[in-house]
Amino acid sequence: MTTVAPARSGTVYFREVCESTAGALAGLSCHRSLEDVAAMYEAPDRKGLGDSAFPCFPLAKELKMAPQEIASQLAGRMERPRSVTDVRAIGGYLNVWYKPEIVAAEVLPIIAAQGQRYGSAEEGRGRTICMDYSHPNIAKPFGVGHLRSTVIGHSLKRILEKLGYSTIGINHLGDWGTQFGKLIVAFREWGDEGKLAAEPIAHLYDLYVRFHADAESDPGLEERARREFKKLEDGDRDNRLLWQRFRDLSLSEFERVYRRLGVTFDSDAGEAFYNERLSPLIDRLVQSGVARSGEDGALIIPIGGEGEAPLLLRKADGATLYATRDLAAAEYRYDTYHFDRCLYIVGSAQALHFQQLFAALKAMGHDWAERMVHVEFGWVKFADTMMSTRRGNIIFLDDVLAEAVERTKRIIADKNPALEDADAVAEAVGVGAVVFWQLSVKRQKDVNFDWDDALAFDGRTGPYLQYTHARLSSLLAKWGKPISMDRVAWGHLNSEEERKLVLRLGDWPRAIQVAGRQYEPQVLAAALLDTAQLYNTFYQKVRILDGEAEAAPARILLSDCVRQVLAEGLCLLGLQAPHQM
Ligand code: ARG
Repeated sequence: MTTVAPARSGTVYFREVCESTAGALAGLSCHRSLEDVAAMYEAPDRKGLGDSAFPCFPLAKELKMAPQEIASQLAGRMERPRSVTDVRAIGGYLNVWYKPEIVAAEVLPIIAAQGQRYGSAEEGRGRTICMDYSHPNIAKPFGVGHLRSTVIGHSLKRILEKLGYSTIGINHLGDWGTQFGKLIVAFREWGDEGKLAAEPIAHLYDLYVRFHADAESDPGLEERARREFKKLEDGDRDNRLLWQRFRDLSLSEFERVYRRLGVTFDSDAGEAFYNERLSPLIDRLVQSGVARSGEDGALIIPIGGEGEAPLLLRKADGATLYATRDLAAAEYRYDTYHFDRCLYIVGSAQALHFQQLFAALKAMGHDWAERMVHVEFGWVKFADTMMSTRRGNIIFLDDVLAEAVERTKRIIADKNPALEDADAVAEAVGVGAVVFWQLSVKRQKDVNFDWDDALAFDGRTGPYLQYTHARLSSLLAKWGKPISMDRVAWGHLNSEEERKLVLRLGDWPRAIQVAGRQYEPQVLAAALLDTAQLYNTFYQKVRILDGEAEAAPARILLSDCVRQVLAEGLCLLGLQAPHQM
């Protein structure tokens, strides 16, 4: 992997702390870049632990010292920049305390000047990241697993772009495979043009289900399906046209969902796109000896050690597989985009597939194989109350979004009946609630989805963040004049909440960096929830507009900065930030 260029962004006070930490580390003969140091720092959430904490555990092995000993050595050696009031070693962490006036006087003007650009960085300049996300299957409902991939991928795309990377969003549609033989047979047998036009995916899905039910008693169906798929692969015109129609109709339904989510792609080259590349690829792999025949006439790429499953390249009957198309896709992406990294945002259920894929690319001699990353995530589980949105055995995303918006409309009608544009706001908030819920859980964990939890205006939810943002917008509209920096008295930001809020805002660029490094939007979700919570406590305790007049400009400035960070954070997660709700 290439090294990361120095970041020019971020705040001076934190950079100084990273510099002196790196200096103290160097004194122990441990050399780390500023970016590595910055990424290691944490924002501790326990009382008494300082404003930033540097964990020493990861260095214990290299330095052959106990973490607590490293922390004390660092505390002893570290220079104190002027923003720092105290440095202490506690439980294996180096803890740093800041002087709030200095931090506020630096951070707030930066946010006021940079607005939504605050937190942007240069580390990705000149580097391209391919991102494979969403990738639903043609003629099948857009399920919740695909939703989670879609929202994680979309958010990571915005985060990585914020860090300066160029991104290529790829919708690797599941648009090829033996199921299309089944669909062709089923459609000719039982298809209905009217239903296909009205609700294409629901109709195609019904046909698919019916095919499987009927095939139990009529084995001839499977054989017919195989023949039709073979014809499709050989380029039969009628089958090809039918397949194209299924694909177009499905994609236009998916696009409706993407529009609601604000999701876009740079390419929708799906599995079928690679068809022509498969036989040259296979020939090359056979000639170079990378692929060989398995016991049963199949063609495989042996990988790893003893007992590890080989990658199946071609079945004995000549059919290629999902993995074959992924190999071709990886080569195509590298040749086309020269990516610095290629991310696959796919559920953990496919972990083995990606291990095999990456190992096979390595066996093929591609030194870029180590740039591939499986960004995996857990399952989405629905509470019982969700089952009303179920059709047959699955939950359609369309129905989930519709219900979320309906419920939000009822909440708004109750809380704020006079709201203008209530329908547009309900759309932004209802859809936002579903999106945020997926991102507020660390991606490797399962998500449990329930209406009341996800929609609560006062919970750890998207609507809560949007509501806080709207409340701030109306406060600032009431103030209604620009803030001149020389009238801001920094010393007034002295309550515990103000101090913490300022530090939270100062920590925002680091949070974005960490989210990008870990491919983890949840880092931002947690930072925003914390910010909103601190702000709401502050708002309840402190009289902002009609309190002490000299304190007002500082408090309004702080409020405006919180609003900017919330707005930008919501955008990075893929949510809208309405000004009223
Ligand atoms: N369409 C696949 C599925 O629904 C996911 C595709 C993931 N991307 C990839 N390049 N394999 O399971």
